[in-house]
Amino acid sequence: MTEYQHIPVLLKEVLEYLQPNEGQNFVDATLGGGGYTAAIANLVAPEGKVLSIDLDGDAIKNFQFLISNFQTNPKLKKHNDKNITLHKGNFQDIDKIIEHHEFPAPDGIVADLGLSSYELEHRGISFQTNQPLDMRFDQSQDLDAKFILQSYGQKDLERIFNDYGEEKFSRQIVRKILEARIKNQPLKHTEDLYKLIEEALPKPVKHKADDSARRIFQALRIEVNHELRNLEEFLPKAFDLLKPGGRLVVVSFHSLEDRIVKQFFVGLTKGCVCPPEFPQCICGKNPKGKILTKKIVLAGEEELQKNPRAKPAKLRAIQKI
Ligand SMILES: C[S@@+](CC[C@H](N)C(=O)[O-])C[C@H]1O[C@@H](n2cnc3c(N)ncnc32)[C@H](O)[C@@H]1O
Repeated sequence: MTEYQHIPVLLKEVLEYLQPNEGQNFVDATLGGGGYTAAIANLVAPEGKVLSIDLDGDAIKNFQFLISNFQTNPKLKKHNDKNITLHKGNFQDIDKIIEHHEFPAPDGIVADLGLSSYELEHRGISFQTNQPLDMRFDQSQDLDAKFILQSYGQKDLERIFNDYGEEKFSRQIVRKILEARIKNQPLKHTEDLYKLIEEALPKPVKHKADDSARRIFQALRIEVNHELRNLEEFLPKAFDLLKPGGRLVVVSFHSLEDRIVKQFFVGLTKGCVCPPEFPQCICGKNPKGKILTKKIVLAGEEELQKNPRAKPAKLRAIQKI
């Protein structure tokens, strides 16, 4: 199969915060091209294990192929095929997936959110190449972008474009989408949607169609893949599953994701929630985690020169107390 291409982002920093050592066990919640999985597997081998999850069957197949060719594969050095387990599924089910594989309590869990370069290039996620309006990470899922554009009502479309895209001209764009339906001109390809966005924009901002399109395409992708809901369900489960002292590292790519991660981490560091006027604590709450990234971690100049797609990446890490 075509190799599932993706250059791992912030790999050095991910390893620095996860600190994988020989014999330890890790979960890579987003396998993608397997850059993190391979690096972690090499560090924990021969006894340590990695459980790697992805919604995308192509990511799983690609890595299965790499494992079967590991002797000729420079990514997997010390690897033996027993120490990596692959699972096609949603990281929001991490608790069930770990139980299913009888995987030990992890020393660390990493999630590199969003999409791989392979998905960006093959799933109608970008308006740069004309493709069917699909956007699904999981190709077995029913909901795709075409369906949303053809069947969601005005309010829902505006909510998605406002909340997930923060697009100023949502109302005008939604009006055009509804007109296209009435004229029986269904939006089938990325080019159709791009043209519609351009037409919907008021004259003075038409030259900014690329910016609006980027926001609208992002919003649709988030809705198709339930990205924020998955993240909200994943974080508390992942943290609970960690061993005491275990680490959770999350790399996010837009402010909506990063806000969810930040608020969740901050919540874990809070201790007593008794009102200040109480003479002594009666809630008995203690902080559950210690934030390891006092300042958010971004890609350095060297990485950005090699891989401009690392630009929006933001890494946060927390350790379970
Ligand atoms: C940025 S890529 C990961 C790249 C990977 N770290 C590497 O080094 O190649 C994100 C991956 O997460 C997967 N993904 C997104 N949402 C997911 C979810 N809810 N559960 C499991 N995998 C998910 C995507 O299919 C994609 O392959």
